[in-house]
Amino acid sequence: MAHRWKNDLSDADVTPYAAFLNRRQIMAGLGGSAGLGLAGLGGTAARAATEEALEPNSWEDVTTYCNFYEFGTGKGDPAAYAGRMTTEPWSVEIDGLVERPGSYSMAQILDAMTLEDRIYRFRCVEAWSMVVPWQGFELADLLNLAGVQDGAKYVAFETLFRPSEMPGTAYNVLDWPYREGLRLDEAQHPLTIMATGIFGKPLPNQNGAPLRLVVPWKYGFKSIKSIVRITLTDQQPQTSWNMANAREYGFYSNVNPTVDHPRWSQASERRIGGGLFARREPTLMFNGYEKDVAALYQGMDLAENF
Ligand code: MTE
Repeated sequence: MAHRWKNDLSDADVTPYAAFLNRRQIMAGLGGSAGLGLAGLGGTAARAATEEALEPNSWEDVTTYCNFYEFGTGKGDPAAYAGRMTTEPWSVEIDGLVERPGSYSMAQILDAMTLEDRIYRFRCVEAWSMVVPWQGFELADLLNLAGVQDGAKYVAFETLFRPSEMPGTAYNVLDWPYREGLRLDEAQHPLTIMATGIFGKPLPNQNGAPLRLVVPWKYGFKSIKSIVRITLTDQQPQTSWNMANAREYGFYSNVNPTVDHPRWSQASERRIGGGLFARREPTLMFNGYEKDVAALYQGMDLAENF
């Protein structure tokens, strides 16, 4: 599957949701594992991640229950206000310890990448969760496009900061621009993707158009939206939530049911769309991707490195 989604395509140009679901079911039948992607899915690590079929949340859930504080802190604010954000033209500055630093346009990036489907669990630090059918490409491929230099140890990300289009940035809830970071080996892991779409359609602005990070084994706030800058560095980068409250939000922020948030338990989660009386579900170690990613943290105290 190598088609490209541009934001000027209409809904009629992209995979209808029914076809998307159908193809997913076909793949489920073939592989016995509907959890993850289809054509082009590389590592066995990625394929092994989920054994059971994941039933995606509805389009409605995913696009109206959002966190994107640049547009306000209410769950409905991003859907209400993110339409103001100009996403075309868009380019990503890739700099720091790379062979080919520069401004990469969305068109350049999409030309070089092959899009694939990934159905991932998504677990917010606030103890709610969803299952989201993403389209995107592995971050590792984008890093290769720029060429990672020896000596790079971390990857830092920044969201667009354009106050005229982002009413939430009038408030100092966070230190803008929104910033996130990963260790290089986390960034290069085959499960780590840059998403350009959901449900076979271009990412809606409220979900981080035109390009956002998705790291399925980490709390959702690591999955930074509407990225304009990626910097390879040898220093652990500063990250917005950690800067706001280091005691509550660590650099790693791996989903971990045994390490509670100082103000609430992380042992279970509320699945969005499950209805008012739905039972909470147990939270899985590394959000269910333990087999694939536990090796990244061997020998580390995960309570200390939360
Ligand atoms: N990225 C930016 N730039 N600003 C944000 O406020 N919120 C984070 C993350 N990425 C956020 C962000 C949080 S807390 C979560 S849970 C997810 O985005 C939510 O993604 P979704 O709205 O697509 O479900």
